[in-house]
Amino acid sequence: MQFDAMALQSRLTGRRIGCRLHCEETVDSTNRIALELAQAGAPEGTVVLADRQTAGRGRMQRSWQSPPVCNLYLSIILRPTIPQQEASQITLMAGLAAAEAVSEACPEGRVGIKWPNDILIGGRKVCGILAEARTDRGKIDSVVVGIGLNVNMGKADFDPSHRETATSLREETGRNHSREDLFLSLCGRFEGWYEILERNGFAAVREGWLARAEMTGKRIRVLFGDEMREGMFAGIDRDGALLIADEQGVVSRITAGDATIIKE
Ligand code: BTN
Repeated sequence: MQFDAMALQSRLTGRRIGCRLHCEETVDSTNRIALELAQAGAPEGTVVLADRQTAGRGRMQRSWQSPPVCNLYLSIILRPTIPQQEASQITLMAGLAAAEAVSEACPEGRVGIKWPNDILIGGRKVCGILAEARTDRGKIDSVVVGIGLNVNMGKADFDPSHRETATSLREETGRNHSREDLFLSLCGRFEGWYEILERNGFAAVREGWLARAEMTGKRIRVLFGDEMREGMFAGIDRDGALLIADEQGVVSRITAGDATIIKE
């Protein structure tokens, strides 16, 4: 069944997230639409939700598989008053909120976050997050946080190249899930963590994120630009950058990139 905007809006209890809800049947990308709305002055908390995307965007210029009426595709507009170098705190916060919503729906699964914000169940990706910021004269004007959550997609629906590495809530729990309930749970947790981040800073978000970090105690490989680095995961710093320790114990910080866990 397609989303019913009125029914969803009436069940949203938060103060900000979902204050305006744009429910669409088919879009190219909810992030693209949200960025356009943000530019046109849409208030913080505006959400774009779609049943289907024809050009879903993933991180690192990848695409996001977005078949109709089985998953969640949404983008949330934020207007944080933080310096640009702290923007990654928002993406980590979003990952934590999404991991909690996933965990609630799949309590029997091992739900973890892989830096920066892939949500995994038992090591397979169930949810991806793409944050895109608009800046104005060096200051953040808005951040659009796009979340794609595989809800009722069957194994055969995944692109063959993702079949072994991706999963859905249905695959993990053996039952269908209500996209509406998941959407509301996600918005509620997002609102809660965003408020904590705003009021108290990054410390509690960092702690919650680290408690779910899939990479703890593992060897990782990170690709950033043309560079590649391998070493032990050494946490995240106060800005949300990834810390990686080499053989000599020298720690480097990486602000953006693609990380994989090295299986030994
Ligand atoms: C990733 O590569 O892991 C990030 C995927 C993000 C996908 C979501 S789906 C809703 C929103 N709209 C997009 O075009 N992308 C994000």
